[in-house]
Amino acid sequence: MRLVLVGPPGAGKGTQAQFIASNLSIPKISTGDIFRANVSGGTELGKLAKEYMDRGDLVPDEVTNAMVQDRLAEKDAQEGFLLDGFPRNVPQAQVLKKILDELGAKLDIVLELVVDNDEVVRRLAGRRTCRSCGKVWHVDFDPPKVDGVCDACGGELFQRDDDREETIRHRLEVYEQQTSPLISYYAEEGLLEGVDATGPVEEVTRRAMSALRRFVD
Ligand code: AP5
Repeated sequence: MRLVLVGPPGAGKGTQAQFIASNLSIPKISTGDIFRANVSGGTELGKLAKEYMDRGDLVPDEVTNAMVQDRLAEKDAQEGFLLDGFPRNVPQAQVLKKILDELGAKLDIVLELVVDNDEVVRRLAGRRTCRSCGKVWHVDFDPPKVDGVCDACGGELFQRDDDREETIRHRLEVYEQQTSPLISYYAEEGLLEGVDATGPVEEVTRRAMSALRRFVD
């Protein structure tokens, strides 16, 4: 199973990716997570990516594409993968197609998580992420038992730098201008399935898994 999750910032891609990838026993490949790991590690890639991420802009395609190409060549991605946050514009989608062609593979499905902008702002403003295991929480919708501490591993929770309201608004504009054309691109390729991403997390997972049923059975 080779699957892409697309949707605006805060749609719940990372949240759903954890459950879907684990249900399907495939690796979850999140370009945002890879960039953030590089920022924390102080690598050259991290230093470059940080200035774009802090503004809410996309990291340049040549950097992102090379990073994804390397990741997809790793052993654990040969039988399938879930891509979260890539591609993010039509040129990246064309590069992904080329990479897969060279590997003799193709995408099975693109799931679009559909949610409105007001809900996105509510979700991102309350998001907290675990510094140790990366699990995502929400102060109101999915709070940990102890404020600021991850239930899963006891790690410290933090708020992402790009989750300030002004940056969130800019990320939504970038999504509208650069990422939303992917929706019609993948619809024309016959790969797109929309999933209503409102309501409880488990309900959204159930809808997503039901869209994937024909591949799982
Ligand atoms: P990235 O990390 O991919 O950010 P994003 O796409 O903006 O998405 P988010 O991670 O903000 O949201 P999400 O949809 O994963 O939502 P989540 O599950 O956390 O990218 C960050 C940056 O990296 C980009 O701005 C760019 O600079 C760079 N980058 C990344 N990929 C790139 C690429 N391909 N090209 C160039 N640059 C790239 O959920 C959000 C909150 O809502 C959480 O608190 C969660 O608990 C809560 N929540 C989730 N589901 C529900 C629900 N059903 N009900 C209530 N609350 C919910």
